[in-house]
Amino acid sequence: MKSEMLLPKVLIPEAKIKERIHDLASEISFDYRGKDVTAICVLKGSFVFFADLIREIDLPMACEFMGLSSYGNKTTSSGEVKVTLDLTEPLSGKHVIIIEDIVDSGLTMQYLLNNLNARKPASLKVCSLLFKPEQLKSDIKLDYVGFKLGSEFVVGYGLDHAGRYRQLPYIGVIENERH
Ligand code: PRP
Repeated sequence: MKSEMLLPKVLIPEAKIKERIHDLASEISFDYRGKDVTAICVLKGSFVFFADLIREIDLPMACEFMGLSSYGNKTTSSGEVKVTLDLTEPLSGKHVIIIEDIVDSGLTMQYLLNNLNARKPASLKVCSLLFKPEQLKSDIKLDYVGFKLGSEFVVGYGLDHAGRYRQLPYIGVIENERH
């Protein structure tokens, strides 16, 4: 990133993310011991978290990618979700973990849970790095959460603002933005 570019303020530093991912991966490895899992990376936002998390999980694993995008601008969730890329393998009978970067209104996750449950997995759980409990507008349950946030608009570590900042190694805030 060019040095003259204004960088978002650090909210969760790189070292803290790494530490939390290590703990989440240990928990998942313990909970699924003796099983094969299918980890689903929800594109685009979760590609960085996904890559770091799966490398800490000590289980036989298949990786799948699903592209989802909510319509409208980034600061409000419309609840209308577009599938931009579908899975390449069936989920029937598999132990599936959805890996998401953030659950905000929860409308994307609600859509995804309905979509994937219809494919009859043996089990379906959710792991989200970030969660904004006060913003939740849907009745969903998260199984693994990295960090709970308030209403601040966050970027970095895979999350964008108008397509930018995904490559930042930390979670940052752009001041004066609220999600
Ligand atoms: C972001 C994020 C989640 C969703 C969460 O995706 O990655 O999928 O929003 O918001 P919600 O809980 O209010 O539905 P976005 O649609 O911005 O696409 P991206 O991952 O490609 O950036």
